[in-house]
Amino acid sequence: MDTKTKSRYPEIYARSLRDPEGFWGEQAEAIDWIEKPKKVFDNNAGIYGRWFVGGVCNTCWNAVDRHVKAGRGKQAAFIYDSPVSNTKRTITYAELLDEVKAFAATLRDLGIRQGDRVILYMPMVPEALIAMLGCARIGAIHSVVFGGFAPKELATRIDDAKPKLILTASCGIEPGRIVAYKPLLDEAIRLAKSKPDGVILLQRPQAEASMTSGRDYDWASLRAAALRDGKSADCVPCVATDPLYILYTSGTTGIPKGVVRDHGGHMVALKWSMNGVYGIQPGETWWTASDIGWVVGHSYIVYAPLLHGCTSVVYEGKPVGTPDAGAFWRVISEHGAVALFTAPTAFRAIKKEDPQGKHVAGKNLSKFRTLFLAGERADPDTIKWAENILKVPVIDHWWQTETGWAIAGNPMGLDPLPVKYGSPTVAMPGYDVKIVDEQSKEMPAGKMGSIVVKLPLPPSCLPTLWQQDERFKESYLAEFPGYYKTADAGFKDEDGYLFIMGRTDDIINVAGHRLSTGGMEEVLSSHPDVAECAVVGVADELKGEVPCGFIVLKAGVTKPSAEIEKEIVALVRDKIGPVAAFKLAITVNRLPKTRSGKILRGTMKKIADKEPWTMPATIDDPAVLDEIGVALKGRGYGS
Ligand code: COA
Ligand code: AMP
Repeated sequence: MDTKTKSRYPEIYARSLRDPEGFWGEQAEAIDWIEKPKKVFDNNAGIYGRWFVGGVCNTCWNAVDRHVKAGRGKQAAFIYDSPVSNTKRTITYAELLDEVKAFAATLRDLGIRQGDRVILYMPMVPEALIAMLGCARIGAIHSVVFGGFAPKELATRIDDAKPKLILTASCGIEPGRIVAYKPLLDEAIRLAKSKPDGVILLQRPQAEASMTSGRDYDWASLRAAALRDGKSADCVPCVATDPLYILYTSGTTGIPKGVVRDHGGHMVALKWSMNGVYGIQPGETWWTASDIGWVVGHSYIVYAPLLHGCTSVVYEGKPVGTPDAGAFWRVISEHGAVALFTAPTAFRAIKKEDPQGKHVAGKNLSKFRTLFLAGERADPDTIKWAENILKVPVIDHWWQTETGWAIAGNPMGLDPLPVKYGSPTVAMPGYDVKIVDEQSKEMPAGKMGSIVVKLPLPPSCLPTLWQQDERFKESYLAEFPGYYKTADAGFKDEDGYLFIMGRTDDIINVAGHRLSTGGMEEVLSSHPDVAECAVVGVADELKGEVPCGFIVLKAGVTKPSAEIEKEIVALVRDKIGPVAAFKLAITVNRLPKTRSGKILRGTMKKIADKEPWTMPATIDDPAVLDEIGVALKGRGYGS
């Protein structure tokens, strides 16, 4: 670390590792507890210890009630801005409290109790956020499933979480396309073995859906009845270590991992992060352009801004096309946002349409201080372009669904450190990040290795996977004993700056969305004409990476390969969903393999990305790589 810097970061970070209980114990004072934790950290609890053991609290209280009690009732909690539905709506903290109390009472009256699971399959509408808070209020565990996933993916999550209730809307609105959610949900429930007791359906005027009698409730009628009858649910005392939510994320197989987030640690870390990581003050307007279906949406559209008493912009639209590449500047200017947090891909999309940044002209960005990027590697070109047109610091930070907040960032509230392009800067408090080799031996500065975090992980990080302790241990803790495996590879420079270079598993990052190529391969293999296949992520100017599937057809197949490729593309859309952005299937005669039969996916990717590659010594037949090169060239990839 550069000792010349005036940042308070080095001292605070060092203390967080030297005295974690003292550090996080102090941060926990910013939260209202029903009963204070008996221990800040209990090494003997859980799999690697647990934070705030014995504490009793309620996340909804801390996000909503507390602020109304403290006089923030008239301040906007959410500003819903939806260019796709032509709607804007401001919800004050006082209004939010009324809505959440009524919705929580509705859930309770439908039989939802503490610990029950509720799945949300919804677009970016305020009702979805009210519902998440309503669950938190009564201690029900919510699990939000992103709307771009197909019925089969939703069914897998239903079978794992076994929700009593599912909340949905009649449709989502994508530019130029209305996505009818209800038929997708009906199909998912049909596919799932575990059936919910009921469904609450929010009808949207863009496409109303038919109700399934005996199972579906109309959202608007339930809301109206609850408000009319003055129904209200109080905050239920929740044990700090109990789950607030489950969020499924891609794993190394097709079966997603149910990341568990607890109440206490989550609140403490997120509250700290709003000033520590982002330099935001209570009362300020903050905007995260993501979706509540992703962790970024959970943490920084819903929970962190509310825990901090901020106004959070809820945007249902895209960076481009709704209606143009000036949409982000309009939202910042109209609502007086002091910061924006989004994925680099959004900025690449804007840059592509408006390279000169002409749309910035005439927008009032006077309050705007910082742009934060995360979710995928922020390429220096995009960072420099954004700095140039916005004239504010552009801050990359690195985190995962598993952690719920930044592992590495530039601590804006502790006086920022100098930016190094290509680096998300330094480890955040509580994360003892190391770069190690296969034997867990630390690598010298500048040398690539696996990025691991010394246990225990700080508050908010997952204590386990939903009802899968063994899978948690095996996936994250087994390979590097004593450490959490991030499954990212990279290096640290001599100043302690981290550089995140890519995943060590089969995960790819498409437009900031995390997807498993293994999951896609399972779908490709299910096609009756496919003998074997491999899916790799190839570089894409806009989305960072896109999946590319190689298929080898079974002997004797007479159907034209172009037809099969089209079927494969449709199959992935049908089984995983449009979010997979799977548009490229290439038929080849054989796949490159090692002599022991391992498919050389890494080399195929390098050929597609025109990166230098060496012939693997263990390759079975080097000629196959030439064939792959020719096939890729035919589709405009490789050289
Ligand atoms: N419901 C249904 N379908 C959805 C969806 C949703 N909530 N979200 C996306 N999709 C669909 C899209 O319409 C698209 O369908 P198509 O194949 O028919 O065009 C497909 O899923 C792929 O979506 P995406 O990869 O997002 O591409 P896009 O072209 O629609 O948009 C960006 C590209 C860059 C504009 C967009 O990805 C974006 O804004 N990303 C940055 C913000 C973000 O959400 N980051 C994630 C976490 S921080
Ligand atoms: P998700 O769980 O969807 O948030 O995806 C987490 C993964 O996205 C990480 O493991 C990284 O591979 C990647 N990622 C997230 N943020 C960054 C970043 N700032 N730089 C590089 N990769 C990132």
